[in-house]
Amino acid sequence: MRTVFVNSGRFMAWYSGQASGKTWVTSAPAQVLSYWKLAASASPLGSFRRLINDLGEERVSFSISVFGLGYVGSVSAACFAHMGHSVIGVDISPAKVEMLGSGRSPIIEARMNELVAEAHGAGRLKATTDSVAAVRNSEITFVCVGTPSLRSGKLDLSHIEHVAGEIGTALKDKKSRHVVVLRSTVLPGTTESLMIPTLEKASGRRAGKDFTVCYNPEFMREGSAVGDFLQPPYTILGSQDGEHLAALRQLYQGTPAAIYETSIGAAEMVKYVSNAYHALKVGFANEIGTLCKHLGVDAQVVTSIFTSDTKLNISPTYLSPGFAFGGSCLPKDLRALGYRAKELDLSLPLLESILPSNQEHVDRAVEAVLHTKKKRVSVLGLSFKAGTDDLRESPQVQLIKRLLGEGCQLRVWDKDVSLGHLAGSNRQYIEEVIPHIGSLLSTDLEQVVKSAEVVIIGTRGVQKDQLEGLLAPGQIVFDLVNLDASRRPKGAAQYQGICW
Ligand SMILES: NC(=O)c1ccc[n+]([C@@H]2O[C@H](COP(=O)([O-])OP(=O)(O)OC[C@H]3O[C@@H](n4cnc5c(N)ncnc54)[C@H](O)[C@@H]3O)[C@@H](O)[C@H]2O)c1
Repeated sequence: MRTVFVNSGRFMAWYSGQASGKTWVTSAPAQVLSYWKLAASASPLGSFRRLINDLGEERVSFSISVFGLGYVGSVSAACFAHMGHSVIGVDISPAKVEMLGSGRSPIIEARMNELVAEAHGAGRLKATTDSVAAVRNSEITFVCVGTPSLRSGKLDLSHIEHVAGEIGTALKDKKSRHVVVLRSTVLPGTTESLMIPTLEKASGRRAGKDFTVCYNPEFMREGSAVGDFLQPPYTILGSQDGEHLAALRQLYQGTPAAIYETSIGAAEMVKYVSNAYHALKVGFANEIGTLCKHLGVDAQVVTSIFTSDTKLNISPTYLSPGFAFGGSCLPKDLRALGYRAKELDLSLPLLESILPSNQEHVDRAVEAVLHTKKKRVSVLGLSFKAGTDDLRESPQVQLIKRLLGEGCQLRVWDKDVSLGHLAGSNRQYIEEVIPHIGSLLSTDLEQVVKSAEVVIIGTRGVQKDQLEGLLAPGQIVFDLVNLDASRRPKGAAQYQGICW
């Protein structure tokens, strides 16, 4: 982790790198984006102009072309123009071009009429159907064309491909440097496997050398799109090389939110994760609300109490990719909810899918171990989490049982579990599931680790220092608990998770 403080005029921004060294976050306090006025010519990238605001702060003014004047494109075009940049919108629809070009918003969206009219009046917002001229007369091109679903669910990337071809053709003879920024929602890999090759083929030039390509997803919501654009949850800048982001850093300078610089693939994926999670939240809230209603419980009260917990509920807790959940509560309580829903004749597919999804993850771990073709497997951690000896519905117990069934030779270590101390339903549970667990369990960590070809870390209760002295270069480690990078022991040939 590296943290650098940068005093950027009135505001103190901080830059902080994560362990991979690839993702960087920049944060700055909220800033009013109005009052930017053209100050002078000249910029590090050529013909850019500088803007200055009433506080004396400066930023570069760019010439920007925006391809696709739908919801994302026209809002982006209007907002960039509002921020003082010169913008030219491009669309294949003459009607949209005519509207934007005459100072009218092509979409119904709050504040758009006002922003478009203002920017058009100031001469900063134009529109055209001539894609080549738009690229040649701009320094940055944003691609905001649609990526609709085909009948199968597969993305239709034909608009992206078509536009990339047009931009590439325009770049063929363009002397000054150009930045192409994909903003449409595309699956990870699309920018690098489709956008860049198409641009390179059409231009006969090399991305990263003759022009640069970045990915910058949009997080606006229709209905509050302008507000979301100017005050986004965060700004994600994906690139193959941080050097490619010079212009975008200047463009987004002063954005009142964290700016993350990362790989193109991570930037593409963050957009999907965000949307999938938003959809999951809506589905979850609706299913819980339905259940509440049928149980005669006030869903509003439940929701408002539930969401007030920012420690476990509305927080990053439980959102780290790792292993299956278990223990005496979560599986049991999900089953009880599912059973009651059935009694009430309710279909709650999201809630019903959680336990099968969890089981699938145990299967994935089994597959990962079998895929190594190694037989001697040691599992560190038997209880469902560190600090307890509760074995009931521990996914580690399930994993061990499955691997035994597949002919693996298992050794198990858990500093919190001693068969002699187990009692009641806990003891009964483990004796039923793995009757000879006593012969597998050991308190000797050294012997358990050294005897294995595959070491499975299934508990946070192991110390990095302890393990580092024991792991050998021939061993494979599966870290199911996703230890912090600083706590991961070195020494094994491979160190990996099953979902990270
Ligand atoms: N709508 C949203 O709220 C939203 C939010 C975030 C991200 N996105 C993503 O942004 C992308 C655009 O979404 P949208 O809702 O703005 O789409 P849209 O369908 O409203 O607009 C797409 C525009 O692209 C134009 N277009 C198609 N081919 C073109 C070409 N060759 N040259 C120039 N223009 C062309 C179309 O005429 C249309 O005006 C999609 O990938 C979408 O998933 C949408």
